[in-house]
Amino acid sequence: MITVETVADLRHTVAKWHRAGERVVLVPTMGNLHEGHLDLVREARALGDRVVVSIFVNPLQFGAGEDFASYPRTLFDDSDKLSAVETDLLFTPQVEEMYPRSQQEQTRVEVPGLSDLYCGTSRPGHFVGVATVVCKLFNMVQPDLALFGEKDYQQLLVIRRMVEDLSLPVEIHGLPTVREVDGLARSSRNGYLSEAERSIAPSLYRQLQQTAEAIKQGQRDYAALESAAMSQLESEGFTPDYYAICRAADLAQPEPEDRELVILAAAYLGKARLIDNIQLNLE
Ligand code: PAJ
Repeated sequence: MITVETVADLRHTVAKWHRAGERVVLVPTMGNLHEGHLDLVREARALGDRVVVSIFVNPLQFGAGEDFASYPRTLFDDSDKLSAVETDLLFTPQVEEMYPRSQQEQTRVEVPGLSDLYCGTSRPGHFVGVATVVCKLFNMVQPDLALFGEKDYQQLLVIRRMVEDLSLPVEIHGLPTVREVDGLARSSRNGYLSEAERSIAPSLYRQLQQTAEAIKQGQRDYAALESAAMSQLESEGFTPDYYAICRAADLAQPEPEDRELVILAAAYLGKARLIDNIQLNLE
């Protein structure tokens, strides 16, 4: 595995691969890698000739008072894990390499509408930061294919929409959420949980499963299901942020004829903000 820190070195290596006709797959991450990330890398390995992983904790997608400074940075461990799953190139730019004008760059990539809902309401500017950095990474790496997790469902939709609207020449694949044995979605932020909080945390996914089951059984009063779920989570010790039954394609409120749904949830548990979702098809 080659590790590079500059865009020039990255471009030099990837250009050689492209000239040789190789298919390049990108897995963008913020590091502190767990099985969820490694699953994406394994899939990248299976789908492409060359696997590029980026690790960059992107200041642009963190709001004031969020965890940018304390976000876990574990490059040595991450690097070992990536070699073990046969990554070809690890790109670890410094902030100055990504944002040479100290984030005073004026151009931003914005996907209005989708970015204003749910996580976008609670974290203003977050998806502009995500779309901008992912667009820059696509321009730097020029991958044929890029992989993202369904765990960050809204993020995946924002990226798909950006790629479509800007005609970016990259294929996007979403991969299912990797979970702990008790159902908790793997996340770098799970490390913020105390032992007591960790034992409560799987209830978020259990609640999503219960709501999904109720809908499958024919319940259609979505507002009632949402508020019951919020109260239940609160009684278990969460501070719920949102809990929403949405149309899977665009996160709009579902119409009675909509069959493809997603239930999105975000809740604080101590200082960790957990997000999760479950997709359901009513066919
Ligand atoms: P990060 O949170 O490090 O996640 C990197 C990728 O791993 C994302 O596509 C995310 O959806 C996926 N992922 C995280 N946990 C997962 C799990 N339990 N199962 C499956 N996939 C999982 O998401 C980001 O970084 C950033 O916003 C980024 C896209 C890199 C832009 O900065």
